[in-house]
Amino acid sequence: PPTKFQTKHLKEIGKRQHDEKISVVGVGQVGIACSAFILQRRLTNHLVFMDIRKDWIKAEALDFLHASSTTGSQKITATVDGKEMAGSKYVVITTGLRPTKDQSRLDVAQKTTDMIVKIMPPLLEYCPNATFIVVSNPADVITWLIQKLGKLPKHRCLSTGCHLDSLRFRYFISKRLGVAPSAVEGYIIGEHGNSSVPVWSSVMVGGIALLRIMPDIGTESDKEKWSKVHEQVVKGASTVSSIKTYTNWAIGMTVSDVISALKDNSGRILSVATDVQGFMGIEDSVVLSLPCILTSDGIAQVVELPLTDFEKDMLKKSVDTLIKAQCSIKF
Ligand code: LAC
Repeated sequence: PPTKFQTKHLKEIGKRQHDEKISVVGVGQVGIACSAFILQRRLTNHLVFMDIRKDWIKAEALDFLHASSTTGSQKITATVDGKEMAGSKYVVITTGLRPTKDQSRLDVAQKTTDMIVKIMPPLLEYCPNATFIVVSNPADVITWLIQKLGKLPKHRCLSTGCHLDSLRFRYFISKRLGVAPSAVEGYIIGEHGNSSVPVWSSVMVGGIALLRIMPDIGTESDKEKWSKVHEQVVKGASTVSSIKTYTNWAIGMTVSDVISALKDNSGRILSVATDVQGFMGIEDSVVLSLPCILTSDGIAQVVELPLTDFEKDMLKKSVDTLIKAQCSIKF
């Protein structure tokens, strides 16, 4: 039967909530970038760091606290055992291995799984009512794992997923057309990884649907080769990490944007990942990104996009890739 999300929360849109504790688990380059933007956007007045490196995270907390008169956040604390996270409204999970130069995100699935299995018990004990935002790669597979390990409701355990890919998509389209990234509306769905799907049929630039003026946009017969834009998106992370060895700023901004959308409770629609069994004709339990309406309690509704046959085929491939990856991890 189709999964029903918590549509009752749609009625609550517009009601804002403040003063909620946010915890960041795994304080490496990604965790720290998420924290910087969470603080800068004033999304919390109590940020908690959880990591095994006790002195390190205390120092990171202090470093931020020195300038707390600019952000209003007076409380930034550090925990190794997780107790301090009790009552968190949002928990951001970044723990995991980064893929090396020649690896895809899926290649680190088992190693990240082993780390996640170890850290989950205190998170589930101290934050049973939190909304979990999974960043650890491969993000879709790890979200599926955490939903299973914690028996968490799907609407409260999501990944930033393809929101970052969608931002990259808008950026590359805007560069090609010479307009502002904010003038482009468009979504990437599916895997946050190599099998992601560019939904060319829903791209709008300044009110113009690109598909109407270029009916074969993004397909093999497209003479203008817009599929190159999707290739740029797929290679986006590795282009940066082949030099830096990691990406952190764009994902940090993405995480803070998702938390802001959740907290604002304004009903923004972002391409984030959760278990989408029952949507878009997907029969199996699989975590991937589709546009979702976000409220302060998580995903209120999945938006079912009308796809072209070409896009449907691509989504099917992404589903198959992810199901295979989910089945391959041992936990
Ligand atoms: C990226 C990482 C977060 O795409 O997967 O930058």
